[in-house]
Amino acid sequence: MELLNRPRRLRTTPEIRSMVRETRMSPSSLIQPLFAIEGENIKHEIPSLPGQYHWSPDRICEAVQECVDAGVDKVILFGLPAEKDEVGSGAWAENGIVQQAVRVIKKNFPNVTVITDVCMCEYTSHGHCGILCDHYVDNDKTLEVLAKTALSHAQAGADMVAPSDMMDGRVGAIRKILDDNGYINVPIMAYSAKYASAFYGPFRDAAGSAPSFGDRRSYQMDPHNVREAIYECELDVREGADLLMVKPALSYLDVIVKARQRFDLPIAAYSVSGEYAMIKAAAAAGLIDEYRIMCESALSIYRAGADILITYYAKELAEAMRKGDIG
Ligand code: PBG
Repeated sequence: MELLNRPRRLRTTPEIRSMVRETRMSPSSLIQPLFAIEGENIKHEIPSLPGQYHWSPDRICEAVQECVDAGVDKVILFGLPAEKDEVGSGAWAENGIVQQAVRVIKKNFPNVTVITDVCMCEYTSHGHCGILCDHYVDNDKTLEVLAKTALSHAQAGADMVAPSDMMDGRVGAIRKILDDNGYINVPIMAYSAKYASAFYGPFRDAAGSAPSFGDRRSYQMDPHNVREAIYECELDVREGADLLMVKPALSYLDVIVKARQRFDLPIAAYSVSGEYAMIKAAAAAGLIDEYRIMCESALSIYRAGADILITYYAKELAEAMRKGDIG
């Protein structure tokens, strides 16, 4: 048969297939989330996130060592304080839980990039991401506490801060306070397009940060919208963001594609707790091949245009990249 074009020619051997891959990724683009909890000698598995743990500051370096051994040298920290209050003052306490974790990790692993999530929801008694005025999260009052929190993370030694609260103007407020205090080289990874998503469910159990009333729809984005995501990214760029983020990842690949087309800054995607928990649960039920689904899901996020991936599978993905199963 006369057939000039045979795309299958380039699929004949694993070597050729790997040569013509259009999507390349490396472990240097992976970030592992870690949960620091107040207390001593704690390594407790998180029920909603199998394989993820709460770590007290005296043990969290074990988790970092595991990451480094797997080839992952970037972590993003979340904190569970001993006490919460109305304004979330634990978030910017000099000896707060994230501040302690940052210090001990940077002391033991100076070459590990420590990123901190900047938000109030783990620290407020009501679980909302800012300061309440009646039942509404007051944007401008929240900016002050977010800025203080980001500064305290930088003072503790954080390499990068990542505001996830979705208040208007927070990137600008954080950039200003960091610059005024001499932290001109601490980059801001902005959770620019963060949607009001049910995929955060397992995280809220893990972080004890579910809102005690209402939901987050007056500050996080409506999942119906994509032009608004571009607008949010645009504002963050103007306010001085160094990296943009889309979150969640898998149900928002179109948002990643559009952000990639429009912006030249690095784009991170956060494959969130619900995405991880669904794969874990389906695998535990014997319904899917966990390893291959993990690989294919991550790969699709990079193919959409993400440069950086925050994922609870960071260690396993680094291994898969090293073996050449992806990447
Ligand atoms: C804090 C924050 C959340 C996540 C990251 N930062 C929870 C939320 O917004 O409710 C979710 C991460 C995940 O689900 O893995 N605001």
